[in-house]
Amino acid sequence: MKIQELLARSRDVAVAAVVWTLVAGVPELAAKEVPACRVVADQRVEEPLGTIAKEYTRLTGIAVKLQFKSSDKIGASVGKETPATDVVVCMPEDLDTETPVSALPGAKAVAWKHPSRLPVWVAVVGKHPGAAKFAAFSGGPEGHRIWANAKAGFTMVTGKNAAEAFDWVAQNRVGHTYPLTAMRMMRELGGIRSGTCIDIGCGPGMLAAELAQRSEFKIIGLDIDPDQKPLFEKRIKEAGLDERVSFVLGDAQELPFPDNSADAIVSRGTLTFIPDIGKCLKEVDRVLKPGGVAFLGGRYLYTSAEHKITTESLRKIVADTKLPNARVVDSRGQWVKIVGPEAPAAARKPSGGPGMLAHRFVADYGVESGECLMIFGGGHGDGQQAMMEGFLDMTDVKITAIYTKPEGVAQAEARIREAKLGERVTCKVGGIEAIPCDDGAFDLVVGAGPMLIFADRPKAMKEIFRVLRDGGVSLVGGRFLGMPEFRKVKSETLRQDAAKTGIPSIRIIDDMGQWVEIRKGVRISP
Ligand SMILES: C[S@@+](CC[C@H](N)C(=O)[O-])C[C@H]1O[C@@H](n2cnc3c(N)ncnc32)[C@H](O)[C@@H]1O
Repeated sequence: MKIQELLARSRDVAVAAVVWTLVAGVPELAAKEVPACRVVADQRVEEPLGTIAKEYTRLTGIAVKLQFKSSDKIGASVGKETPATDVVVCMPEDLDTETPVSALPGAKAVAWKHPSRLPVWVAVVGKHPGAAKFAAFSGGPEGHRIWANAKAGFTMVTGKNAAEAFDWVAQNRVGHTYPLTAMRMMRELGGIRSGTCIDIGCGPGMLAAELAQRSEFKIIGLDIDPDQKPLFEKRIKEAGLDERVSFVLGDAQELPFPDNSADAIVSRGTLTFIPDIGKCLKEVDRVLKPGGVAFLGGRYLYTSAEHKITTESLRKIVADTKLPNARVVDSRGQWVKIVGPEAPAAARKPSGGPGMLAHRFVADYGVESGECLMIFGGGHGDGQQAMMEGFLDMTDVKITAIYTKPEGVAQAEARIREAKLGERVTCKVGGIEAIPCDDGAFDLVVGAGPMLIFADRPKAMKEIFRVLRDGGVSLVGGRFLGMPEFRKVKSETLRQDAAKTGIPSIRIIDDMGQWVEIRKGVRISP
């Protein structure tokens, strides 16, 4: 294809992108007015590209028409006029050959075949207004999760060895979650902040660095992979933490530490890679001081399907260890907590609660800043305050909080003044069925409680959709533990209500409660 043609096409794409931006936030409209984005893809990526396309359509309302072909056929057509194609996806035959797709301007490797490391290249060749966004989506965080879950074994990592590959994920996909995980771990430890802390399966040191910055611990990072050592040591040295943080090569199933020697033992994203988790937990229990606390687990969002674990199987493993102080915590992932008999009482308190909702937005949706609407009910109590403070601590969002009654606003304003949070929070009277705010005003909408359940649900869902901006996300729901049965609503009923709104990007999530997730378009991060 000649350069002039490509430039002309890119101009068309730019114009079309404006049109797309106008309609993308309104899936019903987009589905009617924008034709399908035509993707021609290598048949070796059929699974999971079909799933990626479905998710893209769900979030944007833009249909994707997929056609799978052999790489030879795709190669033969690339560079010629392909008016019937908007996006091409292709893999090379082996590591020594190139695919013609990789030579196209703007082509990007969006995934890698595991373990051959053959890259999957994606390039935009057509004028469809959603094409560039589809290509970016396939290589962005949401695409990555789907590639990682594919049975065919794809991943999104690069680098010379497994350690470098993981370092890429740590920096590019989950980098923003390490401070949150470290904060959470410090809370779980119930006030222990000095002495020896062991980080099992420390990898390239992101967590160890965050923990060290939040404590006075002497931290020992243990990992079985010697390739992690130089990455770990470089990161720790650059952070100026090398006097307190060191690396030890070793196996989590045979810890090279004496009995009763650690004040804290933590681990993130590693447990499911350990062949005998029970053996590791017994070792942790042996090494932990009677006054110590261990907290080990993760969320495994970008972990391949074979290394995920269900809460049930983890519970069985923990029960089989017969360790009296160990239990499973299934809040924001699956964790095992061991609280020594002489540990601080605060370590026994259940963690989580409304303050943890911010974790969910940061970890799952990558929200770090923007305008946030918080929908509260009648009054303002400790739960609401914890939720607000969670967001204000963990993100840079500005909050507009709405309450159904003027008394709620008065209570909230008094507490907000007392906590000196006034600069970042504005309170208004308003409800979920008639939100007193402009269209597209918010990047996130949050509600913890039954406000949506008790409302005219389809009306409330449409209101939330209206006030979200493109790329915005809303989560409203809760665990409703104390709610009488007759007031609860089945998830199926919520799904029917969601269907009545005509918004395809609504999901009912039965994960740690019952949540209504509403999204508007997709947020594309680099
Ligand atoms: C997904 S990475 C997580 C790294 C780090 N905890 C983080 O969150 O950034 C899993 C790590 O566990 C390590 N690992 C796997 N099996 C192990 C074992 N039996 N003993 C110690 N480390 C292990 C791997 O080498 C790898 O560094």
